[in-house]
Order: sequence, then structure tokens, then C-alpha cells
Amino acid sequence: MANADLMDKLVSLAKRRGFVFQSSEIYGGAGSVWDYGPLGVELKRNLKDRWWSSMVHQRDDIEGLDAAILMHPRVWEVSGHVEGFTDPLIECTSCHRRFRADLPEVAGGQCPTCGTKGAFTAPRMFNLMFKTFMGPVEDSSATVYIRPETAQGIYVNFLNVQGAARQQVPFGIAQIGKAFRNEITPGNFIFRTREFEQAEMQFFVKPGTDEEWFEKWMHVRMEWHKDLGIRPEKLRFHEHGPDELAHYAKKAYDVEYEFPFGWKEFEGIHNRTDFDLSRHQEYSGKRLEYIDPVTNERYVPYVIETSMGVDRAALVLLADAYREEEVEGETRVVLGLKPALAPTKVGVFPLIKKEGMPELAEKLHADLRSAAIPSFYDVSGQIGRRYRRQDEVGTPWCVTIDGDTVKDGTVTIRDRDTLQQVRVASDKVVAWVRERLAS
Ligand code: GAP
Repeated sequence: MANADLMDKLVSLAKRRGFVFQSSEIYGGAGSVWDYGPLGVELKRNLKDRWWSSMVHQRDDIEGLDAAILMHPRVWEVSGHVEGFTDPLIECTSCHRRFRADLPEVAGGQCPTCGTKGAFTAPRMFNLMFKTFMGPVEDSSATVYIRPETAQGIYVNFLNVQGAARQQVPFGIAQIGKAFRNEITPGNFIFRTREFEQAEMQFFVKPGTDEEWFEKWMHVRMEWHKDLGIRPEKLRFHEHGPDELAHYAKKAYDVEYEFPFGWKEFEGIHNRTDFDLSRHQEYSGKRLEYIDPVTNERYVPYVIETSMGVDRAALVLLADAYREEEVEGETRVVLGLKPALAPTKVGVFPLIKKEGMPELAEKLHADLRSAAIPSFYDVSGQIGRRYRRQDEVGTPWCVTIDGDTVKDGTVTIRDRDTLQQVRVASDKVVAWVRERLAS
């Protein structure tokens, strides 16, 4: 399948089946902002829960935080974002479309929209932060920024969390939340948007141990991505060269995925040194040092950051899972998502609407729901079509209730990937599914 086709198919499937809709679609859409529908919100939630569990619940050395989006404006001056969080912007003087000057599409000097050559303005630096006003007066003293990364909320709370949770360095703080960037050239569906979600973790370490922790976190994060079921050959690291490094980073590696539109970053791992904490300490006048309880040594910790874009990771999951295959002369579309990530876990189908089958199927559906296993009850259409509908949204198992269920209480469970069917006692289905979801 051609790569452009795959993106078109993903966007169409996402809309048709309720994964992702364009924001404010009835008004023609808001520029590069997307809404997650019933299945998309489940996929994203499963991804975030998995991240939170691995970062916070399964470790003693990381605490969670949910800091506010709006912060004191000094935060963004001190962090370097007001001055340095910019992209070079050029404008085509013929069609007035604006582009990022560093994009390969404009490298030859030809406008990708109208085709005019040599009509770009000189680049000027454009700040990506959205601004608004806090309080009723709209003047510059009331300007606040809508955060472009969640990390700063962690830095300003570093000592609050450390003291309250009685953590000792090395330890980390994890947070999932919205971030906003007024991107000049957003695009590629949910890849580059103006509102998105980040799952970020800042790990505070003793200076001098930062290189070692950086290596450790690179390894942990790559293994985590592989454990999502993403094909390993589609994952790689990319080290930032000196011209790519963010203003705060001493060293940075991107975790990249081979999207249909090329190898691109979906997580950044950064050695931010003591840049942020030292700057906040200097400009707030508040000490942000850690005091080692054993040696009484004082220092500003270094920070190793892992920063995953949740929307980009969701796109990775969709792109990696999508496949088309021939089954009995028909093409079936399958989202081969890892069961734990699939929005719906079980499709429940009574074969026909008589002989007690709907009642038994409804009971099974209710049992699954009360066990918090998302299931979808479907009585409409041929059984083959019901299977196809679940295959294309990634439902790992479909249970059919047939004449034998009425006689002996067993049901057929069909596996999305192998298409194999097994007979299981209806009252054992919940345990059967639970066992497989845990593995
Ligand atoms: N706190 C560090 C930081 O924000 P970043 O590399 O600028 O680092 C981290 O962003 C991740 O956030 C990226 O790897 C990407 O997945 C996601 N991200 C950044 N800008 C985005 C955008 N405009 N749309 C969607 N995701 C974005």
C-alpha cells in the first residue's frame, strides 16, 4: 500500500469509526485541532494509563503531578521560551501563505501552495506560544502564556513534591497534560497540531550522574515503546546535532517512528542539565537546591526529561496497527492493536434473534461490562460483517452465542489475528479475557 494511501485510509477510518474528528467541523474546522471520538478517547486513555502505571504506579522513585496550564508569566521569560521558543517564518508574497523556513518543502525557494519561485520574504523569528490575558484588563501587564510544555509546572514544584513525598535524589516527577503551540505549519493529521497532550517525566539526578541516567532512560523508554506492540524495525533513535538542540538541552535523542510520511520524532529524551532549576532559582530568589541528607551536600539537580507526545504516539499506534488482508476472497481491514490498548475488548454477537440467544448474549455483555471490560453488543447484519466491523477498530475477540449456547452454555470466541475459534463456557468468558489482557 502506498504511504499516502495509508494516511488517507487512517484519516477516513478514524472519522468513520469515531476515533478522531476535525474540531468545529460544522464551521469548516479549526486549523489543525482535533477532537477524539468514542473510540479515540479510549485508545488515548489506554495509552496514558499504561504510561502512568509504568512511570508512577510501578516505581517508588517517581511521583505524579497535575500542574495548571496557566502559570506566572515570569516562568516563560526565565525558562527562555519568550525569547527562544521560535521558528523561522517566511511568507510567499504571491499567495501570502506562511511556512516554516526550515521545512524541506520550501528549500528550493518555490512556494508549495501556488508554485511561485523566489517570492518568499526574509525569515523572521515567530514565537510559538499562545498568549492571553489574566483578569478583566487586557493590557501587557495582564499577559499570560498558555503553556507550550508541561515541564515548567514540574520544575516550579520540584521542592514541593520532594518535601511532601519525602523523596531523595535521584527521583522523578511525572505529568500528563495539554500543551499548546501556535505552529506555523501544522499538519499530517494528529502529528503536528496546535493543541496536544504530553506525557512528560523529569528525573532529578546528582550532577555527574546525568550521562548514566540519560542512557538508562533511553533504554527504558525504547523498551516501553516496543512493549506497546510497535514493530521494532519501525523504531529508532535520532541524536540531535548542535543545530537541533533546544535552548535548554545539553544532549537530546528523539525516539522516531517510520510514519507513512517518513521517520519522525514522537518522544524526546533530553539532558536539560540544571538549566531550568538554576534559572528559576536565580530569578525567583527562592532556593531550589537539594540537600543530601547523608552528606549535607547542597546542589541544584540535573534533569533528564522524557517527553512523549500522546497524540503522536496514538498516531504511531494507528499507523503501525493498520493492515489489509485477503480472507476468503474478501479484503478485511484490521487494526492489530495490542489487546490492552484496544478501545473495545470484546464483540458480543447473538447468532440469530431467537431461541434465547439474545438473552444469553445480553447477560454476557452485562457481565463483561460489570467486570469493566469494554464490550460491544451487536445484533445487526451477517455475522461476517459484524466481525469485519470489530476487526477494523481493533477488537481482539468476538464472542458468538449460538444454538449450542442455549443447549450447553458454551460460546465461540474468535481471535482477531489468527481467526481461530475456541469454545468456552459462557460463565468463564470474563476470566478468559482477563487472563489474556494481563499477558
Ligand atoms: N518538554 C520538552 C518538550 O516539550 P519537545 O521535543 O518540544 O520537548 C516533546 O516535545 C514531544 O511533544 C514531541 O516529541 C512530540 O511528540 C510532542 N509535540 C511537540 N509539538 C507537537 C505538536 N505541535 N503537535 C503534536 N505533538 C507535539
